Order: sequence, then structure tokens, then C-alpha cells
Amino acid sequence: MKIAISGKGGVGKTTIAAALARLYVDKGYKVLAVDADPDANLASALGLPEAMAGEITPLSVMKELVEERTGAKPGVFGNFFKLNPRVDDIPDRFSVESHSVKLIVMGAVERGGGGCICPESALLRNLMRHLLVERGEVVVMDMEAGIEHLGRGTAEAVNALIVVVEPGQRSIQTARFIKKLAEDIGIKRIFLVGNKVRNEAEANYLKKSLPDIPYLGSVNESAKVRRADLDGKSPYEADENFVRQVDEIRMELEKAAESGYRV
Ligand SMILES: Nc1ncnc2c1ncn2[C@@H]1O[C@H](COP(=O)(O)OP(=O)(O)O)[C@@H](O)[C@H]1O
Ligand SMILES: [Mg+2]
Repeated sequence: MKIAISGKGGVGKTTIAAALARLYVDKGYKVLAVDADPDANLASALGLPEAMAGEITPLSVMKELVEERTGAKPGVFGNFFKLNPRVDDIPDRFSVESHSVKLIVMGAVERGGGGCICPESALLRNLMRHLLVERGEVVVMDMEAGIEHLGRGTAEAVNALIVVVEPGQRSIQTARFIKKLAEDIGIKRIFLVGNKVRNEAEANYLKKSLPDIPYLGSVNESAKVRRADLDGKSPYEADENFVRQVDEIRMELEKAAESGYRV
């Protein structure tokens, strides 16, 4: 299973990505969690202590690595560099482990306009492709709303794009925008998850607002989940009900992926 998670900022992408990663570990799978959001904070949601989470250097700013692999210094334009740098050793060498989840933090990359590509983005793009196409682990990728930098070949290897929404028009508008991007880059399956849902009426509001994206399920607004974030703890240990709801969504996702739903 290769799962990408997107949605408007603050809807709960990281919270849900972390729970999915932990659930797959508990089911006995090897799991790679990829923090592909420039505003990276998946580590603490996975339960990595703050001191350790703060030590992680995102791959994009590992200048020596970028230079060694691509032959060019990061942030330097107009240089020649390898478009297909070696990446197969990166997951093992540069990941941190938290509760048996392997975590890779990608970091922020300049998005040059006009199709321009820089050395660090060549490295990250190749790494994403490697993780999604060539490795056997379950991959859970925490992304921002902009998913276009996945690139075509990589996007096709994503089994499911989960778009997290919360009751309200803003995250719904973002979901429409993400759906359009997903279609443009060739993502095969896209699903909705409602988060911070307070009641049945709010779940129905989300389903009705986006009738053309299959709705996997809802996660309730939870004081315990919010508290866990305040304390810098993983929501996974904080609220059994939350974990059960994410597990139900995981099972729905497995079913839907098997039944071959396509965009
Ligand atoms: N189901 C929920 N109930 C209550 N608070 C939640 C829930 N899901 C997420 N949150 C809180 O919302 C905030 C944003 O969540 P986060 O996962 O960081 O969002 P994103 O990654 O989409 O920006 C965090 O403070 C988090 O604890
Ligand atoms: Mg996040």
C-alpha cells in the first residue's frame, strides 16, 4: 500500500498519517513514513520525543548529500547535474525510527517556475519514485496541499490519495483543487476522510459537498487528540476511539483499493 495524504493546512493530515503508519506497524507491516510537507512535523505525531525530532535534518538541506549524489550544490542554478542520482541507500541511512515506523523527512524545496528543476528537487523526486515504485514497505506520505511536484511516474505508483477535509467550505475548496491536480498528474485513486467531525450532519455536509470523491469515513473532533498535540505526544497513545476510527478508515481503504475504484 502506498498512501499519500493531502489537504488544507491544519485539517489533520499529519495526525491521521501518523495514526495510519502506527496502525500498519501494529498489523505487522514494515512501514516507511515520509514527511513531504515543508512544514515538517510528522516525527512528533509519530511519538518521537521532541529533542530527537528537533535533531532531524531534512534531506533537502543535507548539502553534502545533494552535492555528492547530483554533482551540484543545492540552490545553484544553471549547473549541470545528474537527473537520476543514486537514492536506494537513503531510506536506510537517513531515516529515524519511532515505534518501529521508519521516518524520512524530505524538507522544503524551491519550486522554480517554468518547469525549472534544481539539484535537491532532482534528488527528492528520484527518492519518492524509489520509495513508491521499488520498495516493498507500506508507505504513508504526509504531503502539503500542493502535490504537483510528485511527478507523473511517481503519482501513478500511489495506490490511494487521501484528502482530509473538515466541516467548512475552505478545506472543501482545497479538496476540489487537489482533485484537479491529482487528475492532472495521473493519480489513480482519490478518497476523502472527514476529520474533526462532531456529528452525523457534519459528515453528511462533507459527503454532499464533494459527491464525486468517495468518502472513506469520519474521525471525530477529540479533546484527547488536541491535548496530545499540546503535550507534544502522539495521538496514537492518547485516544482509543480516535485510533479505532482511523483503523476503520484503513480497512475501508483496503477494500476500496482492492475493488479497483478509479478516478
Ligand atoms: N480529530 C481531531 N480532534 C481534535 N483535534 C485534532 C484532530 N485532528 C487534528 N487535530 C488537531 O488539529 C491541529 C492540526 O492537525 P495536523 O495534523 O497538524 O494538521 P495538518 O497536518 O493538516 O496541518 C493539531 O493541533 C491537531 O492536534
Ligand atoms: Mg502537517
